[in-house]
Amino acid sequence: MSEWPARVEIREVGPRDGLQNEAAVPVADRVRLIDALARTGLRRIEAAAFVSAKAIPPMAGSDDVMAQIDRLEGVTYSVLVPNAKGAELALAAHADELELVVSASETHNQKNVRRSVAESLVGAYEVVELAHGAGVDAEAIVSTSFGCPYEGDVEPQRVAQLAGHLVDAGADRLSFGDTTGMATPRRVHDLLDALERARIPAGRVGLHFHNTRGTALANVLAALERGVVRFDASVGGLGGCPYAPGASGNAVTEDLVHMCADMNIETGIDLDALLGCAEMAQEIVGRELPSALLHAGPRTRRSS
Ligand code: COA
Ligand code: ZN
Repeated sequence: MSEWPARVEIREVGPRDGLQNEAAVPVADRVRLIDALARTGLRRIEAAAFVSAKAIPPMAGSDDVMAQIDRLEGVTYSVLVPNAKGAELALAAHADELELVVSASETHNQKNVRRSVAESLVGAYEVVELAHGAGVDAEAIVSTSFGCPYEGDVEPQRVAQLAGHLVDAGADRLSFGDTTGMATPRRVHDLLDALERARIPAGRVGLHFHNTRGTALANVLAALERGVVRFDASVGGLGGCPYAPGASGNAVTEDLVHMCADMNIETGIDLDALLGCAEMAQEIVGRELPSALLHAGPRTRRSS
């Protein structure tokens, strides 16, 4: 049997990737959800996005969200930015870490941030410089890393090459997004192979899966067996991307935490507290979320 890592780091992305794909909810609810999540033991929360309010209306008011959250010591509150303007706004709002998003596919990048991949790369240098000037880390997120809703397959080599450029731009961390849930364990292995060839080992890779086709946890397992230790997930399974037709919720945080707990992989996260957050997330968006664990009933939630 393969060795699994002893510990993984789960970043909660529901307050950003989740809520950006829902009808806008009040700032107070966004703050309430983030504050509850911070009390589950999560160490990283993607709290907001500094993007055009015209492009993503539910992320309007992200500066108020950042001002009103009750920041817990030891929790990193990161935010997504598409360009230097977003980085400036995020730093003014005292974000702990910036996440710069670039797509591996030209068409998706154009639709998402209205510029070419090459232009986004130039922007990456600007964002990194702004972040580092403020003493803040900058992560680069490569979206459509496992396929593009417009272009179809995306060559792993192309993703690895872009990742190399982002490392050159000074990115402190790298994550790879499966924007529309096209990843399968086979594609996970192919991308990790290509990244390894580009001298980006699995231990430096963060992965972001969507469960559009039901493969999110299978992909996580494949990646765990390769030594990946950083994963994004969203509470309740909130999530999507408005410029990716068919995108649905991220890997479900509580389902992932439960799976890890049963595999003796430490996450540091309290499952009961997290289930409380999933219930809160359902109440906030006013619909049933795809979480398996939430609907499984108390007896099936425990592994022991
Ligand atoms: N945050 C807020 N406002 C921004 C901004 C940012 N990061 N970047 C630019 N703007 C403003 C400009 O100041 C300008 O305002 P004005 O009309 O009052 O002068 C306006 O938006 C247009 O600027 P421009 O540079 O021409 O942007 P654009 O219209 O080409 O849009 C983005 C580009 C990147 C701002 C927009 O496409 C965007 O926010 N995309 C984010 C998409 C996203 O978050 N996807 C989720 C990941 S799946
Ligand atoms: Zn996503």
